[in-house]
Amino acid sequence: MSTVPVIQLNDGHDIPQLGFGVFQIEPVETAEAVRTALEIGYRHIDTAEMYGNEKEVGQGIRDAGLGRGEVFITSKLNNGYHRADDARRAFDETLSRLQSDYVDLFLIHWPLPTLYGGDFISTWKVLEEFKEDKRARSIGVSNFQPAHLDRLVQESETVPAVNQIEVHPYFTNDKVRLYDQQHGIVTEAWSPIAQGAVLDDPTIVSIAEAVGKSPAQVVLRWHIQRGDIVFPKSVTRQRVKENFELFDFELGGDAMTAISSLDRGDTGQRGPHPDKFDYIPE
Ligand SMILES: NC(=O)c1ccc[n+]([C@@H]2O[C@H](COP(=O)([O-])OP(=O)(O)OC[C@H]3O[C@@H](n4cnc5c(N)ncnc54)[C@H](OP(=O)(O)O)[C@@H]3O)[C@@H](O)[C@H]2O)c1
Repeated sequence: MSTVPVIQLNDGHDIPQLGFGVFQIEPVETAEAVRTALEIGYRHIDTAEMYGNEKEVGQGIRDAGLGRGEVFITSKLNNGYHRADDARRAFDETLSRLQSDYVDLFLIHWPLPTLYGGDFISTWKVLEEFKEDKRARSIGVSNFQPAHLDRLVQESETVPAVNQIEVHPYFTNDKVRLYDQQHGIVTEAWSPIAQGAVLDDPTIVSIAEAVGKSPAQVVLRWHIQRGDIVFPKSVTRQRVKENFELFDFELGGDAMTAISSLDRGDTGQRGPHPDKFDYIPE
């Protein structure tokens, strides 16, 4: 079985560098998908209140017969709950759905700078409370740009442990990654294989042929060697297994550079721009 490296966060806690993402997995399929991933060897699950499947994530872990302490769980505060009391209530509900008295990592899902009077600082201070009372072992953010992070660094006591952002070969997002790195924040790369869109790329296909691995394995390995955390999503057992087998090969410098050169800048971005995104789910 592969051994997944751990990364130490700026608060001293360890996080497995490879996990399993559950965005867009239907609640009815989630417990089974999580159990499959855990059977294969994953020990890190990335969910969110917005995904609507926290309860089933907790169920999948119990179905796998694993103790709570054996799996690293991340969840995220939904966009409608940034006000302090709403955030406290939403976090209570996240824990109750997971049937756990803590999460390993809790994130503000989006900064929403055009909502709440641009105030994500008071929301962050509520996450500091969760860290203080140990119900969130670590706290971090998602989709924060350098300008948003600057404000957190200046106006609060806690530097986020992670920043979870869109990163893949067509959108390498190196400006934000560099900011993270310079401030002791670990980058987590969401949509690491661009939901499949990079897998037919001729550069990636030819590197995959040369190293005898699949295009998905090559792209995920590129992330790992860049030092980012990844949690690819799949409901297909064979792919879940394939995505876990990343630690018995290495990409050379030329291959790393060739993949990084596929960056298309802002046009490669698939998700919404964090400066503008203002979606509040029903
Ligand atoms: N913070 C945020 O705002 C944010 C946003 C997006 C995602 N995320 C997180 O990041 C995780 C991963 O991102 P994502 O789910 O958007 O996309 P992704 O992991 O880049 O790609 C998932 C898609 O690729 C397919 N796939 C997976 N492995 C494959 C393989 N080995 N070969 C071929 N196809 C494969 C899956 O198909 P099947 O499932 O049909 O097999 C699925 O359609 C999410 O689950 C979530 O935890 C966070």
